[in-house]
Amino acid sequence: MATLAVRRLLIDLETPFARHWHGGDAFRSALFNALSMSFPVGEQFFIDSVRKGFQDLPAEKQEQFKAEVQGFIGQEATHRRIHSLFNGHLEKQGLVNEWAPRAQARMKLMEGIDARHWLAITAANEHFTAIFAEWQLRHHDLLDGCEPRLKTMWLWHSAEESEHKSTAFDLYHALGGDYEWRIKWFRRATLIFLTNLLRQTVCNLRHDGMLWKWSTWKSAASYLLGRRGLIRENFKSWCAYFRRDFHPSQQESDLSRRWLADNMREYSLVGT
Ligand SMILES: [Fe+2]
Ligand SMILES: [Fe+2]
Repeated sequence: MATLAVRRLLIDLETPFARHWHGGDAFRSALFNALSMSFPVGEQFFIDSVRKGFQDLPAEKQEQFKAEVQGFIGQEATHRRIHSLFNGHLEKQGLVNEWAPRAQARMKLMEGIDARHWLAITAANEHFTAIFAEWQLRHHDLLDGCEPRLKTMWLWHSAEESEHKSTAFDLYHALGGDYEWRIKWFRRATLIFLTNLLRQTVCNLRHDGMLWKWSTWKSAASYLLGRRGLIRENFKSWCAYFRRDFHPSQQESDLSRRWLADNMREYSLVGT
């Protein structure tokens, strides 16, 4: 079982930041803002899933998962808090979070349903975040145009997503979750996630008055499909989830560990 430290990020999130905080680029800022808008609600769902799954485990397995589950919940709870602060600035900039209420309404439909369904959805979403996290850590220079505190925030979140990417997946299997449902939820979660991400990014660009600018679309094309593009470089990793013998640890690298070791002054450890 993984040991997951909970870290308190030591960055200033009081001071407002520029509208195009992501290197002066409207598209990148809108895309990352959309992701951030989904985090407080989404990560609460991940916490609830893991908590429910843990409660359904037999006592001997609970012992095995206990520390990892506590670490997972601590990390996601910290991400929620930090991104809520970040999102507060977006609200002041006039952006409207339409994703969170839609997600909340969908989550209501999950009440009373077997925890394995919750965990399959969480494991699918954790696969996206793990891929994205790994890509961000690999190409951290793409965040060089951001204020250092914001670059730190995104890379810290990435490092922890990479660290805990197996937790929901392992719990799902420990509860007897099967391949068929894992894949069913992965397909649905992909469709729902990408549709919502696109809708919220467009909504952000519209409020920003940048939706119909040539520079916005040019940036989108190169950021998503260019040489190191987000979609272009990650499609294979996304497909790997369909393999019967897939496990998140197969996509392991030392990028997360390295970032955490090199940036110790950016955080303190909670509970030590
Ligand atoms: Fe997170
Ligand atoms: Fe996560």
